[in-house]
Amino acid sequence: MIALIYLAAGVCFVLSLGGLSAPSSARRGNQLGVLGMALALAAAVVGLVLDGQVDTGSLGVAAVALVAGGAIGSVLASRVQMTSMPELVAVLHSFVGAGAVLVGLAGFLAHPVGDLDLARVVHLVECFLGVIIGSLTFTGSIVAFGKLKELIRSKALVFPFRHGVNLILLLATLALGGWFVATQAALPLYLALVLFGLLGVLLVMGIGGADMPVVVSMLNSYSGWAASATGFLLANDLLIIVGALVGSSGAILSYIMCKAMNRSFVSVILGGFGAEASGPDERAEALSAKGVNRAGPEDVAELLLGARSVVMVPGYGMAVAQAQHSVRELTELLQKKGTTVRFAIHPVAGRLPGHMNVLLAEANVPYPIVFEMDEINADMVDTDVVLVLGANDIVNPDALENPKSALAGMPVLEVWRAQTVVAIKRSLNPGFAGIDNPLYYKDNTLMLFGDARKMVESLVAAVKGGAHH
Ligand code: TAP
Repeated sequence: MIALIYLAAGVCFVLSLGGLSAPSSARRGNQLGVLGMALALAAAVVGLVLDGQVDTGSLGVAAVALVAGGAIGSVLASRVQMTSMPELVAVLHSFVGAGAVLVGLAGFLAHPVGDLDLARVVHLVECFLGVIIGSLTFTGSIVAFGKLKELIRSKALVFPFRHGVNLILLLATLALGGWFVATQAALPLYLALVLFGLLGVLLVMGIGGADMPVVVSMLNSYSGWAASATGFLLANDLLIIVGALVGSSGAILSYIMCKAMNRSFVSVILGGFGAEASGPDERAEALSAKGVNRAGPEDVAELLLGARSVVMVPGYGMAVAQAQHSVRELTELLQKKGTTVRFAIHPVAGRLPGHMNVLLAEANVPYPIVFEMDEINADMVDTDVVLVLGANDIVNPDALENPKSALAGMPVLEVWRAQTVVAIKRSLNPGFAGIDNPLYYKDNTLMLFGDARKMVESLVAAVKGGAHH
């Protein structure tokens, strides 16, 4: 019975992941995830009682822990700002890591001696793996949280021989593993716990702020493998399945993000990005001497009224300004006038995967007019007006045109191919990558300077009033 319920929960988790892959089914995916977790918790508790492993007294303790933990979790999750989501996720990973360490230690300390047969060796290896992966996940997640929250300097910590130091830590830990399994002594287990924890600190300290989202998703993956190791230790099939799901989906997400940010997986893991100092940028100076074309809301409204097809490109600035509702209003106004309006979403627009999709969904922008980069890039040439809403790096032509650019090779939304581009932002300041954007100096680009929400509200008013007419 318990095994069947675990299986049902496992199916719920798989379907949940499937649901999360599209905005229209994400809600259902989340609900299935919640259902799966409820089934898993219930089955775990009932299973322990039936096995006679817990008495009713400790069940009471478990119930208190469940309620308290659940309450803290719900309050935190409902209060967190969308833009701070990666921090929350980082903290949650640290718990998974800590859990794996504790279960691994308990698994060993419950039976510290035994005949060294194959089963015993496997058990010891499981304990060891759970402890070290958990330790690395725990310390790495704490450092990632600190960097994201800017409690720790977000620049990459680079020192000589750091790869050598990391390698020594890894080899020393493996040696400790051998010692632990051979002697069944607790000391090497504790030492490995410390060494791998230190490795977690060093690995994440070595990664610059720009790569943090990839790191969080990679720690997500590690936490999955830690859970899987715990599952083997506890002989809990569900934990093994769920851990593997989390481990592999985290790894795939990291890979997708790396590709979208034009970073190699290996270089992110080994760290050091965001560390290079750059000299004075002559191109940027030449560009700024050229000047930009400024426009006011009335001009842009006029342009929009004359357009047959409009593409909106939301970015981090739209999220900061919370402009999504006004954007939807503008979209509806234009649609009523017979204009085709579509949204173009870059895979790393904003600060976390799916950031823009969530904001647009919140403002009830219909999914069928929201397109991914690859679906819409070819249509830019046939577009009359592209409205860039607080986006910067994801529309930087240097990514394609300037091999020396920090973004070189990153796929971008090729908005400059449209008839006219209107960029809404407050200044000419750079975006996340900290580099200048030649888009703003192009002849077919108009700058509408101001807060994204205020500017879109002005556009709505001007379009309603028929602009200059
Ligand atoms: P950014 O390149 O960061 O540019 C955002 C722009 O919004 C800024 O240049 C800023 O210019 C403008 N802005 C800020 N507040 C605004 C406001 N209230 N009103 C209007 N504009 C405002 O954003 P993006 O184009 O979305 O690109 C995302 C970047 O983040 C990429 O470099 C990506 O690699 C990185 N990143 C992405 C992720 C994921 S997974 N999505 C995670 C981490 C990092 P002003 O200051 O002039 O207004």
